[in-house]
Amino acid sequence: MSDRAENNAMSAQVAPLRVQRAPAPLRGDVVVPGDKSISHRALMLAAMAEGRSEISGLLEGEDVLRTASAMRALGAEIRQDGARWIVQGHGAQGLREPDDVLDMGNSGTAARLMAGILSTQPFNSFMTGDASLRARPMKRVTDPLQKNGACFVTRQGGRLPMAVVGTAQGTPIHYRLPVASAQVKSAILLAGLNAQGETRIDEPTPTRNHTENMLRYFGVDVTVRETESGGRLISLTGPARLHAQNVIVPGDPSSAAFPIVAALLIPGSDLLIRNVGLNPLRTGLFKSLQEMGAQLSIEDVRREGGERVGDLRVKASTLKAVDVPAKRAPSMIDEYPILSVACAFAEGTSRLRGLGELRVKESDRLNATLALLKANHVTARIDGDDLVIEGRPDGNGLGGGRVETLMDHRLAMSAIIFGLAAPNPIDVDDTGFINTSFPGFIDLMNERGAGL
Ligand code: S3P
Repeated sequence: MSDRAENNAMSAQVAPLRVQRAPAPLRGDVVVPGDKSISHRALMLAAMAEGRSEISGLLEGEDVLRTASAMRALGAEIRQDGARWIVQGHGAQGLREPDDVLDMGNSGTAARLMAGILSTQPFNSFMTGDASLRARPMKRVTDPLQKNGACFVTRQGGRLPMAVVGTAQGTPIHYRLPVASAQVKSAILLAGLNAQGETRIDEPTPTRNHTENMLRYFGVDVTVRETESGGRLISLTGPARLHAQNVIVPGDPSSAAFPIVAALLIPGSDLLIRNVGLNPLRTGLFKSLQEMGAQLSIEDVRREGGERVGDLRVKASTLKAVDVPAKRAPSMIDEYPILSVACAFAEGTSRLRGLGELRVKESDRLNATLALLKANHVTARIDGDDLVIEGRPDGNGLGGGRVETLMDHRLAMSAIIFGLAAPNPIDVDDTGFINTSFPGFIDLMNERGAGL
C-alpha cells in the first residue's frame, strides 16, 4: 500500500468530487473559520500560561485539533464549552512528559512549533504525523534548536518520526533565519520561553508575526526592532511567565482567499466576507488581486485581540495578469495555488516569482499547482522558482481534467474553485483533507450558490 493510500485508509475516507461550472452567481455574507496560525498559537500559549484562558473563534479543523491533543498530552486541561475553548494551563515550566507519541497529523505548523516547545523541557518526547507531514523537512527547526542543548533523532533527511531529548537548562539561541519561515522563527521563540537568558532572532525578510503578537498579549516582553534593510531583530528573555488571557481568533485570510477568488471568477457574484484577519504580513494576496483589477475592498477595519480585522467586499471582475515580486511571497505563501487559478482566467501572462518554499508545503505545491493547471488545459510553466501562467479570460477550453490533491487541503480547494469557473467539469481525486483548515467549505460554498 502506498503511503497516501495507507494514510487515507487510516484516517479519512477518500472523498472524490466532480465539479461543474457554478450554476448561478455567488451572493450574500460569508464567515470563514478562524485563523489556523493564530489558533495553533492560542492553544499552545494558553496551555503554557498560568491560569484559565478562553479562546473564541478557534479553528476547529483537524490541524488545530492535533495541537489541542498534543497540549493535553503535555498536561494542560483543554475542553470545549459551546463556541468557546477553555484552557487551564500550568505555566511554561509546568508541562509534563507525554506518555505516548504526539501525532501532529497533516500540520507542519503544529510539528515545528511543538519541536521548539519540547526542546527546552526536562523530558523526552516523540512526534510523528501523516504521510504528507512525514515527508516534510524538520532540519530547518532541529538545526537551530539543537544549539540550545536539545537533541533530535529523526529519520533520514530530517523527517518525522522524531525523538526530542529536551534540555532543562537550555542555552538561549541567537539565529539569523536562512529561510523566510514564521514556523522556524516561532519554534525558536517558544524554545526561548524556557531557556536561560536572551533568545535573539535576525529575520532578514519579515514573516507573519502572530507568535510575537500573542506572546506579548500573554505578558511576555518581546522586543522587535526594524533594521535598515527592512528586516527585524526579535528577542525575548527566558525563563518567561505567561499569564492566562482570553483570545478572539479572527477569520483566516488564507481561507477567505477561496470564496474571494470564486466570487471574482463567477459572473455576477457579490460577496461580503466578514471578520477576516488583516495582519499586513498576511495580505499579499489581496494586494495582488487588486493589482489584477479585482473589485475587492476592505471595509470596517478594527483591532481585535491584538490583530487587525475587517470585512471584505468582493464582486465578479475582469482580471488582468500580474507580476508578483518574490519579496511579497512570505505575506501570501499559502495563497499561490488559488492565485494561480485567478491568473488562469486573467488577460495576459502572469509571473509569480520566488516560489521555492512551495516545494516543501503539504505537497510540492509548485509542481502540484502546475499539474492542476496543465491537466485543465492552461498553458503554464515553472521557470527556476517562478510560475508563469498564460491566462484565458473567456475560459474557453479550460477544465476537463483530473486533479491530484496529494493530501493538500489548499490544492483541493483551489481545484474546486477552478472547476466552478471553467466551462468543462473537472474531477478532484480527494477533498477529505479540506477539513484540516476549512471544515464546512463545500457547504459554505453551496449556501452561497456554488451548486457543488
Ligand atoms: C505558518 C507559516 C507558513 C505557512 C503555514 C503556517 C505559521 O509556513 O505556510 O501554513 O503558522 O507559522 P512557513 O513559515 O514555514 O513559510
